[in-house]
Amino acid sequence: MRPRANQSQPEARRAVATAPGKVILFGEHAVVYGRPAIAAPVTDVQARATVAAGQPGTGVHLAAEDLPSPDGRPGGRRYRMRDAPTNDPLRAAVELALTAFAPESPAGAEPDLHISVTSSIPIARGLGSGAAVATAVIRAVARYFGHAPRPDEISPLVYEVEKLHHGTPSGIDNTVVAYEQPVYFVRGGEMTRLAVGTPLELVIADTGVVSSTREVVGDLRRRWQDRPERYEALFDQIGAIARQARSAIERGDLSAIGRLMNQNHALLVSLGVSSPELDNLVEAAQSAGALGAKMSGAGWGGNMLALVKPDQRQAVADALAQAGAVRVISSHVS
Ligand code: MEV
Repeated sequence: MRPRANQSQPEARRAVATAPGKVILFGEHAVVYGRPAIAAPVTDVQARATVAAGQPGTGVHLAAEDLPSPDGRPGGRRYRMRDAPTNDPLRAAVELALTAFAPESPAGAEPDLHISVTSSIPIARGLGSGAAVATAVIRAVARYFGHAPRPDEISPLVYEVEKLHHGTPSGIDNTVVAYEQPVYFVRGGEMTRLAVGTPLELVIADTGVVSSTREVVGDLRRRWQDRPERYEALFDQIGAIARQARSAIERGDLSAIGRLMNQNHALLVSLGVSSPELDNLVEAAQSAGALGAKMSGAGWGGNMLALVKPDQRQAVADALAQAGAVRVISSHVS
C-alpha cells in the first residue's frame, strides 16, 4: 500500500527534513531474539536531507558529504543514483520514498532531483546513523512531493533500508528514530511510547572504535546457534532487566535505573559484544559517580552511556574524556 498522506500539497521546489540519532537504554541484541528493549532519540546529533529540483533529464543525483564512500573511506560521496548498486542504502531510501510519495511516472522514468545529505551522527558507532539518514531522506522526498507522512508510514520504509545495513534488524532503530520518542519495543509488536517519570540526564561517550552491526549481530547468531541454551538464558535475563527498567523509568526511580544499566552491561559482557574500550569507559563513568553505565547499540566499539544526576554531569564527562573517549555528548530523555 502506498502510504499516502491525508492531504497532498503541490510539489515544493525545495524540501528539507531532519532525523535524530538514538541510544539503546536497555535490551540491545536480546531484542533481536524477541525480548523487550528500550531506546530514546538523541536530538543533539542529527541527519539532514535537502531535496531540490535538478536539471531536466539528469535523474536523481545524490551528495552525501559526511558519509564514507562504498569502500569505507571518508571524504564524502557525489553520484548519480542509477550508477549506485541497488543495495546502496541511500539509493534504496530514495527509491522507497519515490515509490511511496512521488507522482506516478512512466516506467523507468526518474524525476530530476538533487538530494544532499549531511549528518552529525558518527557512523557505525551505535547511534543509529543509518536509520537517521534514511528517515531524513524519506521525509524530505515525501515533503518535496507535498506529503506529510506519519511516523508509522515512515518507519516500515526505514526498516527496509535497515535490512541492507544488517540482515536481521529487530526494528528498534527505525522505530525510535521515525517516532522521535522514547520507546518500549518488542519485535513484531506495537510501538509503545514510554512515559518518563523523571527526565534522564545522559552522558554519551564514543570509544572512537568503528564497528559493524552486521558483524556483531552475525557473530552472536553463530554462537547462539552453537549453544542456544546459554544465550537464551542470557537473553531472558536481559529481557527481565528491560521490563524492570520500564517500570523504574515510568516511576522516575533514577537509582534503580542506574543499577539496572550496570547489570545490563555485565550481561552484554557475558554475551561477548562489549570490548576493552567500552568496559574501560563504563568503569570510568561508574568510578566518577554515575548512577549507572553501559555500552549502547551493537558493541565491539561505538558508544557507551552513563546516567548522571545533573550536578555530576561535568565530573563524569571529564572522567570519560580522561579515560580516552574521542567525543562526549550530553543528552536528555523526557
Ligand atoms: C542495534 O542498534 C541494536 C541491535 O539490538 C540490533 C537490532 O536490534 O537490530 C544490536
